[in-house]
Amino acid sequence: MKAIILAGGEATRLRPLTHNIPKTMVPVLNRPFLEHVIGYLKKHKIVDVILAMGQLSEQIQDYFGDGSEFGVRLTYSVENFPMGTAGAVKIAEKLLDESFIVLNGDIFTDLDLTAMINFHRERKAIATIALTPVENPTTYGVVETDGQSRVRRFMEKPPWDEITTNMINAGVYILEPDILGYVAFNTFFSFEHDVFPALLEKGEAVYGYPFESFWIDIGTPEKYFRLSRDLLLRYIGDKDVKFEGESFVHPSAQVVGPAIIGEGCFIDRDSVIKGPAVIGPGCQIGQGATVQGVVLWQNCKVGKEVKLRNCIIASNCYIEQRSEILDNCVLGDRVKVKEGSKLPKGALIQPNEVV
Ligand code: GTP
Repeated sequence: MKAIILAGGEATRLRPLTHNIPKTMVPVLNRPFLEHVIGYLKKHKIVDVILAMGQLSEQIQDYFGDGSEFGVRLTYSVENFPMGTAGAVKIAEKLLDESFIVLNGDIFTDLDLTAMINFHRERKAIATIALTPVENPTTYGVVETDGQSRVRRFMEKPPWDEITTNMINAGVYILEPDILGYVAFNTFFSFEHDVFPALLEKGEAVYGYPFESFWIDIGTPEKYFRLSRDLLLRYIGDKDVKFEGESFVHPSAQVVGPAIIGEGCFIDRDSVIKGPAVIGPGCQIGQGATVQGVVLWQNCKVGKEVKLRNCIIASNCYIEQRSEILDNCVLGDRVKVKEGSKLPKGALIQPNEVV
């Protein structure tokens, strides 16, 4: 079965991290997020993968090529402007002649795809939507099903008093090619808002496949941060430190896991890195700096006695000495934090700013 990954869209909610990279290319554990998604498909023996992409698609193609290095066969489908989730699939219609999987490119899950495919086939569904429970469904597409798991109703971001279930659209679908008859060519169309409700109106067999295994989306910096931590804890032992290549660590520096240190880092004397932490390749951690619970992208320079805690710092940032960046701050690319600055908690700093 082929899979199509939706890797386009605007990614407004993940700014300032998606200034000049697509949402699917943000590094998670020092690898583009999409590499984790492709790895997931491969694990489920799905190796024919179409990437539906919009702007900045060259970055994706340059990194993944024909997919052979990652054990899959990749085909690219590029939109000139965002066509919506269903519009993007419509463009790739000629590549889809049998049942296929659609995966939002911003989710990570352990969902058992094989079981979902069997469920879809047994019910002869035209569309099967994976459903996952969440604590707060008000920011998602809620899906109501009957006792036989047939979808009864879709509610997009409903208020609390209208909520009848906590099961939401998890962004994984198994679809029959006939569904593309419901999508106009060259028109913005979304599965969630346009296609699925139209299928229900026509009485088509749309099913919900409930699952409870791991699921998270990286729609916002906060969720991106949570995913990084979750995967770090999953792949690295509780207190382990993984060096991805050669780095210099001064004997007086302390690195406490769980942590991943990218290649070519320089960790200076008396500095402390405390996990959970992901340090990108080519980062410098200055003398006496304390870095705790951070996600640091590549080539960042952290000056002497800087304090970083529970924050995300994108590539090529320069944090000058004695500054402090604490809880929930998010810095875009190439930000410069001046000597001694103390950023307010939760600050979102746009790329190239000097603060
Ligand atoms: P926000 O602007 O932050 O809401 O993000 P988004 O535009 O990415 O929207 P959303 O989170 O609803 O998208 C769900 C998935 O579909 C994501 O993986 C997007 O990358 C993808 N997606 C959304 N719109 C398009 C589109 O027009 N074309 C393609 N190819 N993918 C899309």
